[in-house]
Amino acid sequence: MTIWADLGFTQSPYDTKSLPPTAIGERLLVGREAHIRRLVNRLASTSSHVTVEGESGVGKTSLITIANYRMKRNSDKARSPVLLPIEKPFQITTREGVKLLEAAVYRAIAEAFIRYRDELQAWGYDAPKVADVNKWMNSPIIKSIAAGVSAVGFSVNASRSESVNASSAFAESGLAHTVRTWMSECFDPPGCGYFVCVLDNLELLVSSTSARQALEEIRDTILAEPGLRWVICGARGVVRTAAASPRLQGRLCHPLAVEPLSMDDAINALEARIGEFSTGGAPPVGPIGFQYLYEVLKCNLRNTLQKCEDFSFWLHDEEILGVGEMEHVALLQSWLTLLSDEYANNPNISSDGWRLLDDMVDNEGSCDFEDYELFNFPSVDKMKRCAAELERQNLVEMSPGDTGMDSVVVAPNGWLARFSRSGYQIPRT
Ligand SMILES: Nc1ncnc2c1ncn2[C@@H]1O[C@H](COP(=O)(O)OP(=O)(O)OP(=O)(O)O)[C@@H](O)[C@H]1O
Ligand SMILES: [Mg+2]
Repeated sequence: MTIWADLGFTQSPYDTKSLPPTAIGERLLVGREAHIRRLVNRLASTSSHVTVEGESGVGKTSLITIANYRMKRNSDKARSPVLLPIEKPFQITTREGVKLLEAAVYRAIAEAFIRYRDELQAWGYDAPKVADVNKWMNSPIIKSIAAGVSAVGFSVNASRSESVNASSAFAESGLAHTVRTWMSECFDPPGCGYFVCVLDNLELLVSSTSARQALEEIRDTILAEPGLRWVICGARGVVRTAAASPRLQGRLCHPLAVEPLSMDDAINALEARIGEFSTGGAPPVGPIGFQYLYEVLKCNLRNTLQKCEDFSFWLHDEEILGVGEMEHVALLQSWLTLLSDEYANNPNISSDGWRLLDDMVDNEGSCDFEDYELFNFPSVDKMKRCAAELERQNLVEMSPGDTGMDSVVVAPNGWLARFSRSGYQIPRT
């Protein structure tokens, strides 16, 4: 028995995971019709790859997932070019991951040929024989690569022996060559069809420089494959900075910006979840409480959902069930007050650290180190030390820039600490 069943729900209406590529995921996605249209139009209309940029937790992955879900459903010969999404997104967490990415991409395309084969054939495309694909995929060497490299995360199996490494490099290049031949035979004339791959969470490469270098490295390989269209997605300005690199000019579209959902859409998103998962129970956080949290947390959807879930657990622990919405709102407000006090009483932050946080809030939630004088610091180093103090306690996030002059943004917990420090005022939007 989950607490959600006790509360009258089939599952958590506040789940923080990205929306799944299913009919339910599609029903739960709110306010992104224009983004999906723009994304798909770009994929179909230009040879440059599509980039998507937006703050952490704003809904980038969900919108790409549902765009792919629809593309897959709507793919038919009548639509030209045909766009066939590779469902699982790729990500690179380290620079070393770039080489492994290439191997994983060719393997995923080989698998996609098996998955889409019947459709491709029905539409008159010259798809490779499944037996040929299977022969490759089930060869011991390709299996050993598959065991060592996972499509997301790219962990390398340390136990792979040198000889396996050497022959697997040969097999990888063989597979890449074979997959390229399949693509050129299938999508003939060029441009009549593409597999759509997603490279997500580019900010995991930490700095814009590493992200740019990684993209430059794959520029002439998997980004240059005629049968592939890429959606490259990241937070904290990483994609925008990387896309501006001269070596990538003409290869990447101007980023599609994903802004936070408007208040109305955020509430619609909550109501869609309640409609989907309620078995008659009243939600622990309804629209009024949700609006309050979304405002305090500066329109961060994932964090708002997380706090709704935390509050629900607290209600359940305290056995406060079956009270009305207004009682829930009052309880939520007291709970949030106590929680924000905890963050604001963090003993590891110096008075200068708190002053920086307060001044960042007044500066739209961010600051640049080059403005140290404006923020009343005697030196960049002193300001950096205070920012590092706040970062260690997860109150701010750094956005590493290319010049070494990073910028800093207030993190969701920072907004919560500030809520207490401001005497529980809702921040300006
Ligand atoms: N348009 C939307 N309608 C309804 N719910 C959404 C929408 N967009 C995102 N969500 C929900 O918000 C949360 C965050 O979404 P998602 O993981 O897509 O964000 P993200 O921008 O990819 O985050 P990150 O930067 O951490 O990768 C998820 O719980 C998701 O289900
Ligand atoms: Mg994401």
